[in-house]
Amino acid sequence: GRGRPDRRDGLNFDPVAPNTEDRIVTPEGYDQSIVIRWGDAVLPGAPKFDFDKQTAAAQAKQFGYNNDFCGLVPLGWNRWLMGSNHEYTSETFMFSGYKADNPTEEQVKIGWAAHGFSVVVVEKDFWSGKLVAKLDRHYNRRITVTTEFAFSGPAAGSKYLQTSVDKTGRKVFGTFGNCAGGVTPWGTYLSGEENFDGYFANSGTASTDPRVTRYGKLGASTTRKWERFDKRFDFAKEPNEFNRFGYIVEIDPNDPNSTPVKHTALGRFKHEGANVRVARDGRVVVYMGDDERFDYIYKFVSKNRMKHGNSQRVREENKKLLSEGTLYVAKFTGDSPAAEIDGTGKLPSDGEFDGTGEWIPLASGDKSFVDGFTAEEVYVFTRLAADKVGATKMDRPEDIEPNPKTGRVYAALTNNTDRGVAAGKEGPTEINPRINNKHGHVLEWEERNNDATATKFSWKLFLVCGDPASPDTYFGGYDKTQVSPISCPDNVAFDRKGNLWISTDGNALKSNDGLFAVPTEGRYRGRVKQFLTVPKGAETCGPVIEDNFVLVSVQHPGELTNASADNPLSHWPDGGTSQPRPSVAAIWPRRGNICD
Ligand code: FEO
Ligand code: CA
Ligand code: CA
Ligand code: CA
Repeated sequence: GRGRPDRRDGLNFDPVAPNTEDRIVTPEGYDQSIVIRWGDAVLPGAPKFDFDKQTAAAQAKQFGYNNDFCGLVPLGWNRWLMGSNHEYTSETFMFSGYKADNPTEEQVKIGWAAHGFSVVVVEKDFWSGKLVAKLDRHYNRRITVTTEFAFSGPAAGSKYLQTSVDKTGRKVFGTFGNCAGGVTPWGTYLSGEENFDGYFANSGTASTDPRVTRYGKLGASTTRKWERFDKRFDFAKEPNEFNRFGYIVEIDPNDPNSTPVKHTALGRFKHEGANVRVARDGRVVVYMGDDERFDYIYKFVSKNRMKHGNSQRVREENKKLLSEGTLYVAKFTGDSPAAEIDGTGKLPSDGEFDGTGEWIPLASGDKSFVDGFTAEEVYVFTRLAADKVGATKMDRPEDIEPNPKTGRVYAALTNNTDRGVAAGKEGPTEINPRINNKHGHVLEWEERNNDATATKFSWKLFLVCGDPASPDTYFGGYDKTQVSPISCPDNVAFDRKGNLWISTDGNALKSNDGLFAVPTEGRYRGRVKQFLTVPKGAETCGPVIEDNFVLVSVQHPGELTNASADNPLSHWPDGGTSQPRPSVAAIWPRRGNICD
């Protein structure tokens, strides 16, 4: 039996039980509030949100739809710049009576304005404990599908990036499909352009060019029909526009007039997110996942060293770091005999799914390391270059983050139900050991000599997710009768003590998604505890773990089969008969800190 909860793990909460409630369920002793929700004012002059009277002009001043990543850049005592992306829109939930075959121009333009990014000043109210969004005239900012971005790095200006509107190949409008991200040590946000392929139609002959098909199958029309109102979204009319999405973008919230950047040096794929570790010699290392079944894990090592200081001048220097360096892709090797990896998740005889690995260089500046590829081709068609060098096919690499205490790196591999199942696809390997991997796993690795720039490393699976009562799961070696069930890890974050926090998307255990914390060291290593659950139909994103509060993005609440704006199956967060609204929520302990 579970008996009295053991709090000696330093995480000051008792686990929340799995449930299907239409609210955020937190541990005893914790309070919660909404920081900001879809339609709330971001810029001065934003009208009050009116579900039945939406306009593109209003949306461009309001918080966008389906916020995923959330990050805080400190601005002063109990004051931060909160960055949130707006990954995608669900028009059937946004507009009553929406006609999917024939959206109006205004509905499409509301969609453009509801994508992108928001920067909002937030303050922690001393008396109530709430984190409050401020209508700050200087810092608050909206970035949308029509905001100008600049290309940076070795492929900026490439012939593959030139279009009829931008003959320079250096200027592009908008960002969409932004999933996870990170905050850099120099105070900017990184955000990954993930499922960009779904925004492009092809009214012409279907392309058979792997440079296109390796990134997606473009249909005659898209779900949102943007191609009807801007020809750049039709591949037949503007073929290179497709090559201008799929990057890591960098946004400097301290300079609200700055032009955000798309970093070609970090490659082009379905970027889940990006997180930075500063190496001992001062160079910066970026870890990145390509979230698709059987796709890869990458890292970038900068050429130059980070400068210290908080001034805008220093920040301008550091903002160049991700434009020059070396891009690598990961190859993992298991140390157990292949015959012991039977696809069931049973541990091999050495007791661990583990092994070694190497970072294979793809390109550095203008130099390509891949036969048959120029450097610019490596940066723009990165997946093809990584295929060529034999990178390891993974079970959907999502968020990746280095542990600030230990330097070890953690990657969420969310699931892959095609492994060992789909015809012609790879079967189980030691690093992706389960066929029909419904629940995903969490990978841990350590660079050789704990040097972030090393090209060799050792790895092990930290968690093999699912129902702990099932023999195909593994919780860092911890007693499985003492852990919370966890399925489909997506975002990862750390608290200041080095505990790993994991949010989930698509819980295959038939309860709501949520947020979990787990020590990575000591006698409680692997003891997963559920911190909260999100409302039904929602995915848990963000997350941000401060000492005395947690932020989560509650993305797509109520996104359930049969739901629509006219039949909402969630009424979160406003209750009653209201429409569900994606939001950022804060959760904080009534007294003390979250961990000690
Ligand atoms: Fe948008 Fe890979 O989750
Ligand atoms: Ca092994
Ligand atoms: Ca994600
Ligand atoms: Ca996901």
